[in-house]
Amino acid sequence: MSRASLDKDPHEVAAMFDGVSAGYDRANSVMTFGFDRRWRTTTSRVLDARRGERVLDLAAGTGVSTAEYARNGAWCLAADFSLGMLRSGKHRRVPMVAADALHLPFADESFDAATITFGIRNFVDTKAALEEIARVVKPGGRLVICEVSTPTFPPIRFLYRRFILWIMTLLGRFASSNPEAYTYLAESMLAWHDQRSLAQIIANAGWTKVEWLNLTFGVVAIHRAQKPTRRPDHHP
Ligand SMILES: C[S@@+](CC[C@H](N)C(=O)[O-])C[C@H]1O[C@@H](n2cnc3c(N)ncnc32)[C@H](O)[C@@H]1O
Repeated sequence: MSRASLDKDPHEVAAMFDGVSAGYDRANSVMTFGFDRRWRTTTSRVLDARRGERVLDLAAGTGVSTAEYARNGAWCLAADFSLGMLRSGKHRRVPMVAADALHLPFADESFDAATITFGIRNFVDTKAALEEIARVVKPGGRLVICEVSTPTFPPIRFLYRRFILWIMTLLGRFASSNPEAYTYLAESMLAWHDQRSLAQIIANAGWTKVEWLNLTFGVVAIHRAQKPTRRPDHHP
C-alpha cells in the first residue's frame, strides 16, 4: 500500500488497519499520553447508554470504545470492516460484527443509539455513512461522534499540527512495520473538518439538534445529534 494511493479507498483503509491492529490500543495511548481513555469516558457520559438499550458502536476497531460504552449495562455491538482490528480485540467481552459503515447489515430502526469514536474521518463518504446510520437508528434515537478536531486557540492549533506530524512519524518509524499507515493517519487528522463543518454535514444527512462539545482545547470534539421523531399522521 502506498500512501499516495490510499485516498480513503475502503479496501486499502481496512488493510491498513489490519496492518496496525496488533499494536493499536497501545500506540493510541502513547500517542495521546493516555488522553484517549478520558475522551472515551466523556463520550460515554454524553452517549448515556442505559440497560435495555441497543447501541451500535461503529468503527469500533478492537472494541476498546464498545467496552467503555457498555459499562452501564446497555447492549453495545462493535462493528468494523477490519477483521484484523476485531480479531485483536477478541479478548474483550463485547459482541462484534464485520460491517462497512456505508452498507450496514442491519434492519431499519434497530438501534436506540449509534456512536463512532475516532473512525468517521476514515469513511470514504461521510454524509452517505451518516444517512445509512440514520436508517438503522430508531426515530428519536441518538448519534454521538468523538473525533479529532480543530483546536480553537491559534497558538495551540499551530503547536498541535506540528506535534501530530512529529509523533506520527516517530511512531511509524520506530513502533510499526508500516510507516505509511502512520503518515496517512496524521494527514487524515490534519485534513479533517472543523467542529462547525462536521455539524453541518451531520445536519445535511438528516439529523437534528446537532451540537458539539470541545475536549482538550478542541483537539477532540464530541458531536451529538438526534434522529427526527416521526410526525403524527396529519388529518386535515
Ligand atoms: C482509529 S480506529 C478506532 C477504534 C475505536 N473506536 C477507538 O475508540 O479507538 C478506526 C476504525 O475505523 C474503522 N473503519 C474505517 N472505515 C470504516 C468503514 N467504512 N466501516 C467500518 N469501519 C471502518 C477501521 O477499520 C478502524 O478499526
